[in-house]
Amino acid sequence: MKVIMLGAPGAGKGTQAKKIAAKYHVPHISTGDIFRANIKNGTELGKKAKTYMDQGLLVPDELVVDLVVDRVNQEDCVDGYVLDGFPRTIPQAEALDKALAALGQKVDYAINVEVPDENIVTRMGGRRACVGCGATYHLEYAPTKKEGICDACGRELILRDDDKPETVTKRLNVYHEQTQPLIDYYTQAGILKEVDGTVDIEEVFRAITVILGE
Ligand code: AP5
Ligand code: MG
Repeated sequence: MKVIMLGAPGAGKGTQAKKIAAKYHVPHISTGDIFRANIKNGTELGKKAKTYMDQGLLVPDELVVDLVVDRVNQEDCVDGYVLDGFPRTIPQAEALDKALAALGQKVDYAINVEVPDENIVTRMGGRRACVGCGATYHLEYAPTKKEGICDACGRELILRDDDKPETVTKRLNVYHEQTQPLIDYYTQAGILKEVDGTVDIEEVFRAITVILGE
């Protein structure tokens, strides 16, 4: 099962992708997480990516495409995967299709998690991420058991650098310009599925399991 998560920044792509990965036993591949891990480890890729991410801009396609194509060719991806944050531009989607076609494969579902812009800024301001394992919480909607401490690994939680309100607005603009056209792209491919992302996390996930099968 090859699934792509689409949606605005903060729509809940990561939250739902983790749940899909756990239920259907496929790897969760988040390009944002891969870049943040590279930044944390001080790699060349991380240094390049950070300059774009901190401004709310997309990292150039050429730094993303090969990375993802290599990743989906790894052994743990034979039964599928859930891609979160990729593709994000039409050229990325075309590159993915081309790489899969060369292997006689294709994407099965593109799930668009729909959340209006008004809801996004509040969500991002309340999001907290673990510095250790990258788990994501929300002060109000997905709180930890102990304030400021990750339930999974016990490390501290931080506000992501790009979750400041002015950067969130920029990311939303970039989303509408460069990523939203993918909705038409996957509609034309006949694999687009829409879910309402404004309801609570479990309810969004129920709608997704109806699409993917119990
Ligand atoms: P990335 O990490 O992918 O960021 P994003 O798309 O902006 O999305 P987010 O991770 O911010 O949101 P999400 O949809 O995963 O929401 P979440 O589940 O956390 O990318 C970061 C940057 O990296 C980009 O800006 C770009 O620079 C670069 N990049 C990455 N991929 C790239 C690519 N392919 N090409 C070029 N550049 C790339 O949920 C948000 C919050 O809401 C959480 O606190 C959560 O607990 C809460 N929440 C979730 N669901 C609900 C719900 N139903 N109700 C209430 N609260 C909820
Ligand atoms: Mg995410």
